[in-house]
Amino acid sequence: MATQADTATAARSPFERIGGHDAMRRITDRFYDLMDSAPEYAELRAMHAPDLAPMRASLPSFLAGWAGGPRDWFNANPGKCMVSMHSPFAIDRNTAGQWAEAMQRAIKESDVADREIADAMADVLANMARGMAKG
Ligand code: HEM
Repeated sequence: MATQADTATAARSPFERIGGHDAMRRITDRFYDLMDSAPEYAELRAMHAPDLAPMRASLPSFLAGWAGGPRDWFNANPGKCMVSMHSPFAIDRNTAGQWAEAMQRAIKESDVADREIADAMADVLANMARGMAKG
């Protein structure tokens, strides 16, 4: 039988469980720090603009709405599909794998309020990224 605590956990969004905007910002900052410094993500880094500041602002906002939190990114980008927005980029298995690994590592290394939901989010994002490879 579900306890009251189980019911309370189920009622909260993944965004709330992970620790809200602060946790999303810690994860995405770690992700772009890794992308910007670790040689194993050099090809992924080269696809991005020299200045990562707009991405550091945009990705946590996207993830917040995607995880059931405030939908600012979606309201600011009506009708924009995150996957089709990537169609101009030559994403192959290698660069998609770099994105997936850097994100999994960033989530593992970041302080979050609920490790279980964070690991689940890491798996879903890694699958999503790998699914975006065109070759
Ligand atoms: C499959 C591997 C991926 C690659 C190689 C990739 C690459 C890129 C590149 C090159 C840009 C443009 C950035 C710039 O001009 O500096 C971009 C933008 C963006 N990407 Fe990705 N991406 C990948 C997967 C993902 C995934 C899985 C997500 C979200 C879960 C994501 C979220 C975003 C967002 C939110 C933006 C900025 C959109 C905006 O606000 O205009 N990307 N990506």
